[in-house]
Amino acid sequence: MKLIEVKNYEHMCELAASYISDKVRANPNITLGLATGGTPLGTYKKLIEDYKHGKTSYKQVVSFNLDEYIGLTGQSPNSYRYYMNDNFFDHIDIDQDNTFVPNGIATDLDQECKNYEEQIRAKGEIDLQLLGIGSNGHIGFNEPGASFESYTHVVELTESTREANSIYFERMEDVPKKAITMGIASIMKSKEILLLVSGEHKHDSLAKLLTGDLTEQFPASILKQHPSVTIIADAAAIGNLNIKEVMYD
Ligand code: PGA
Repeated sequence: MKLIEVKNYEHMCELAASYISDKVRANPNITLGLATGGTPLGTYKKLIEDYKHGKTSYKQVVSFNLDEYIGLTGQSPNSYRYYMNDNFFDHIDIDQDNTFVPNGIATDLDQECKNYEEQIRAKGEIDLQLLGIGSNGHIGFNEPGASFESYTHVVELTESTREANSIYFERMEDVPKKAITMGIASIMKSKEILLLVSGEHKHDSLAKLLTGDLTEQFPASILKQHPSVTIIADAAAIGNLNIKEVMYD
């Protein structure tokens, strides 16, 4: 794993956006794995700015999102389909037919999971997967205890995750209890991973990732075994961790 330390959230977003847009320009047919949540929001904003300056086109880009709540339609402002359209896709020239988000209202959810994996295979696998990390070490919605062998599947969300995400909902009881998520094995198949970590509240999970053991109780620990992971973390997340600084090249 390569760790890049940046000053703050703003710098993390700038660096992440230039990292991603460089890759898109180098490979216009790239398949991106995308994430939702608070962490990547600023990165999407910077990518939109870059697009508006005419620097990068997404016409031939394919994207797969990590996860989606079960029971929410794409029109629901809390669905991840809505988040992606609103915060990114609607502002760039990507072909919406090439943007994949699991269908959280599929009548046959198991079939939906299988189809999703097949679609990823059919597009030649994910070239660059953008990731955040949960305070409990989750990646996507793979909560502690998730099998390292898992592919796209249905999960029950933990109370800590529901609580963390409840800030986006009017009432706690509106937060879905289940989701579809790409599995750990699906994530590990991506050719390259870019993990963003920002804020003091992520310090413990970053510390555990960098210094802890490989264990299914801390899903992100699997990333140690991936051949190409870049972490961009800000000073608040790094805190007093004694890390060897690696510069962006
Ligand atoms: P956050 O979520 O970006 O909203 O902190 C990250 C995650 O839970 O993976």
